[in-house]
Amino acid sequence: MTNEVKYHVRLSESMLEGARYAVLPGDPGRVEKTARNIDPNARFLAQNREYTSWLATLNGERILVCSTGIGGPSVSIALEELAALGLKYFYRIGTTGVIQPDIDLPCLIITTGAVRLDGASTHYAPIEYPAVADLELTNSLVDAARELNLPYRTGITASSDTFYPGQERYDTYTGYVPKRFQGTMQEWQKLHVLNYEMESATLLTIINTFGLQAAMVASAIVSRVKEETPDDHVLRLAEEQLATLIKHALELHINRNTRPA
Ligand code: URA
Repeated sequence: MTNEVKYHVRLSESMLEGARYAVLPGDPGRVEKTARNIDPNARFLAQNREYTSWLATLNGERILVCSTGIGGPSVSIALEELAALGLKYFYRIGTTGVIQPDIDLPCLIITTGAVRLDGASTHYAPIEYPAVADLELTNSLVDAARELNLPYRTGITASSDTFYPGQERYDTYTGYVPKRFQGTMQEWQKLHVLNYEMESATLLTIINTFGLQAAMVASAIVSRVKEETPDDHVLRLAEEQLATLIKHALELHINRNTRPA
């Protein structure tokens, strides 16, 4: 194990104590809570720019909780540096807006594959390359949701570099959505895409190109076909459900995982 500190995340192999599991929220403000929910004795490791990290222990495995910031470019930097430090299993936890009318809030959306509306993933693989989630990690999320009786859906996510035009929002400074994105929300609805978010395309593409494993779960906080402003009750429930789910999914995967460390 080396003490060489990676430039952006400010972590070294020795700080990670052999961690193979990474839990990746976007928001630095959610890292401590997520880590302490996994392990009340979790401890702070580092903070630089959008990357805040804590180390937890669960069933004998070290779990790194590290924020990635919003969007593909900052996710790609985190993945490069964390993979080089020995992380193998990547669970992203986030928030999302659903676009199918039959999804009530709150609901956990477990992404099986992402529409690549990002730019960062195209720096790693051509657009024909699929942004698919790892089966074993995804199964652990689904099984955890079932066992905990939490509302969930599995399916395809539209993963966009932008929150506004790429997700066809017209409540913007200019009110204009470029032609490329006009009508796209309806198109994704017709194609049974469940939701919009901003990181899964980059995460799933890059981790597959690395030969590692990644899965993605997001709490639906808004419905684009019902209400656009998250209400406090839904936000609180969404956060609680995500925290409970990720801990149990980790437990299930750690117990099933027979791969040597
Ligand atoms: N995150 C997104 O990218 N879109 C939403 O609508 C909500 C959260």
